[in-house]
Formats: sequence, C-alpha cells, structure tokens
Amino acid sequence: MTEGSGSDRDAGRSAWTAAQSGAIARSADTVAPVIRPPETDPAESVHVWDTWLLRDRSGEMATVDGYRVAFSLTATSELLPGKRHDVAEIRYFYSRDGRRWHDGGPAFDGGSLGQRQWAGSALYDDGDVYVYYTAAGDGDASELTHTQRPAVAHGGRLVGAADGLTVDGEWDHEVLFEPDGTWYETGEQSRGMIYTFRDPWFFEDPTTGQTYLLFEANTPVPADSDACGGDAAREFNGSVGVAASPTGDPLEWELRPPLLDAVCVNQELERPHVVPADGRYYLFVSSHMHTFAPGIDGYDGLYGFVADSFRGEYRPLNGSGLVVTNPATAPFQAYSWMAFPHREEVLVQSFSNYFDFDGESLDEIAGLSTDEQLRRFGGTLAPTVRLAVDGDRTRIVGTLERWRMPLPEEPLPEPDTDDRRPGAAALEDRPIGVGVGDAGSYLSSGGERG
Ligand code: FRU
Repeated sequence: MTEGSGSDRDAGRSAWTAAQSGAIARSADTVAPVIRPPETDPAESVHVWDTWLLRDRSGEMATVDGYRVAFSLTATSELLPGKRHDVAEIRYFYSRDGRRWHDGGPAFDGGSLGQRQWAGSALYDDGDVYVYYTAAGDGDASELTHTQRPAVAHGGRLVGAADGLTVDGEWDHEVLFEPDGTWYETGEQSRGMIYTFRDPWFFEDPTTGQTYLLFEANTPVPADSDACGGDAAREFNGSVGVAASPTGDPLEWELRPPLLDAVCVNQELERPHVVPADGRYYLFVSSHMHTFAPGIDGYDGLYGFVADSFRGEYRPLNGSGLVVTNPATAPFQAYSWMAFPHREEVLVQSFSNYFDFDGESLDEIAGLSTDEQLRRFGGTLAPTVRLAVDGDRTRIVGTLERWRMPLPEEPLPEPDTDDRRPGAAALEDRPIGVGVGDAGSYLSSGGERG
C-alpha cells in the first residue's frame, strides 16, 4: 500500500468537539423504545452482534438469486457474552423477504486472517463478492494478541437455489493496509485505553464516483502534546479513517487523512459508515458511554454528522451528534448500529446487547453469575429503528421487527404520529404501545407489527 496523489490527499478533517458533545442529552427524538427479550431467534446456537448487509456499489442492499445477505460476528451462545470478541467468527444469513433469515453457517471455510474476525462490510460487484473485515490478533501467536488490520476476502461466490444460499469456491484473504503513524496511530504509539484500527466500510461517492473505505482509527497525540490543555482527555483520540481506491479497484487502497476525529472527546468511533441522502453525506458511528473523555456524559449510542461533500466539513447531527440511544432504564440494551437508506427514511439496525441491566457501567456485568450474564444478553438483532432525517436533524419515528431489512421497493406503514412516538414513551419510561410485540412498535394495523 502506498500513499497516492489525489484531490483529497491533503484535505482537512472535521472535529467532534467537547463543546458539541457536551450537549448530548436524551430526547424523544433520540431514545429508542425499550426492547423486550427476543421471542424468536434465527440463530439460537450463536450470539450474533455486529451485522452488515451485502450491498452494491451504490450502497443499495444487493440481492443474489432473490436472496438478501447479511454478515454477522458470531460466537457460540454457550460462551460468556463478554468473551465473544476473543473468538468472533463471521457467519452469513440469507433471506428472501428481509424478515425471516436463515443461518448459512461460517462465511469462510478456514483461511481467514487473524486469530478472530471483527466487523466489516460486504460489496457485491457484478457478481463478485468482497467481504471486508478486521483481522484481529496475530494469526501466528499462541496467546491472544490485540493487533487489528483491515482485510478482504474475495474469490468466493454466493449461489442461490430454491433451498437456500451457499458459498462456493475458494476465498483469497489479503490485508489491505497498516496505520502510517502520522494520520493514523500505530499500536506502538497508542497509550490510550483501547487501540483501534478496524471495521472497514466500502463507500462509493454518488456525486464523484470515487471509491473509499472508511474505518475506525485513532489520531496520534504525543505524550507531551498540549492538546486538550495537556490534561487526561488527550488520551481520547478516536477518528474516522479513510482509504481511497483511485481506480475503483476493490482491492487497491491508499490511505487518506481522517474524515473526522474526536481528540479530547472520545476514544472509539466504531463502525463508521456514510449514507447519502438529499445530496448530503450522513456519517454515522457507534460509541460507548465509557469511551467519552472525563467530563463528557455520553451514552452507548449511534452518533452522526452531516456534510455537503464527502470530505466535509461534517457538523454533528442534532447539535451534539446523538442520533439513537437506549432508554435510561436500559442503557445497554442495544449497540453497534448500522444505518441504511429506505426511501425518505433511514433505517437503523443494531444488536440486542444487555437488555435487562441498568447499572452504571458495563463493567458491573462481570460481577453477575454466568447464568445471569447469559440471561440478560440478547445476542440477536434488535428491532430496526426508523429515522426521519431533515438536514441537520433526525428523529426516531417508529420501529420494525427484529431482523427486518426492507428493500426500497417495499413500502413501510405510515410512521408513528408525534404523540405516539416510541422515543417519547421511552423517555418518560412509559410502557410501550398498545398491542405491540417484540419491536415495541405502536402500529396495530397495516401489517407492520413488532
Ligand atoms: C463494535 C465492535 C467493533 C469490532 C467488534 C468486535 O461492536 O467493537 O468495532 O469490530 O465490536 O467484536
């Protein structure tokens, strides 16, 4: 991998500032409804968390022989949920209707890079499949290591038949790039809490046709830096990284400067992705309560930014950046949100995390018995959240069932009216809705039941 030339090579970066993130506060527009325990689960034998859809170059959900395809990080459901990151394996799921999903099994038949595989994205390009993922840990080491390298698997094919979708052929796995130490912190430079260089996300700019990979990273901040007034907040240095492919080749990438960083604000801007809408660029990341710098009260949530061009400048949505969070009574019920466009709306899928836990921090989970940790963990997808997006503002206007991923040609029922919006109830800690099911949707007719 080399640094190339290009108009965006020396472009500046946007910043998520302490003043903006200091305004984070739950509101009826940003709080998702309380999630109930899952009643059905298409993959009971595994915990399912970070999930992404097979998409074409334009970012639309792809279909292969009539099937939609999702990839997820998974681990056996007998495992203590907190240990799942150490053994994560990518499985694929397929569905004809975007409602009922079938577990296709592991996406790769051995051969994947790293000790375990973390999040990514998947491109369907003229019948060729590219699964971008994070090679986590050093494949040769005997003990667990914490390196992270964006990687790709290609060469395998997806083949649909009446009885399901199978993976055919051999995958080639390649590491795509390493951090440069200038724009992107290396593991050796890192002093902060949790080092990040992961979660590659394919994006083609609809205006320019340029091809990018976004990823989660950190900005180097030397130990003697006077950033953040020289105080401890300078250890919090999350960024949204970018690589470009000047030729559009899905395998050839050159690092570019970060799109945005959160120095003095937050350590982890996870699973960055861009959704184009109304000629604007909506950049989304997930982040945790515990990765905000001291003095900033954030939540586990989906945060977002908007810009008029891919490079920015990005402004935080809703003033603070908060787009979707969990109710105060279940602050860790969902995580790892992924937004995708649907007609005038943006839909947001996530996984059901610790739905029955209202402690101060996720660290307290470890103090519970194994059975309690397993009982409180969802380990499957959460209800899909519906977002109305208008310029710099977003608001939650309803939910769909778990695992619901509609194509743009599939209409959704009218969104919930203002006084029956799920966020309003969740904020006031009211029980959700009449005749609602798992998703906590208010809709009692029109076929879209929770
Ligand atoms: C977010 C995340 C990702 C990472 C994965 C590992 O949920 O931290 O950034 O790839 O989980 O399990």
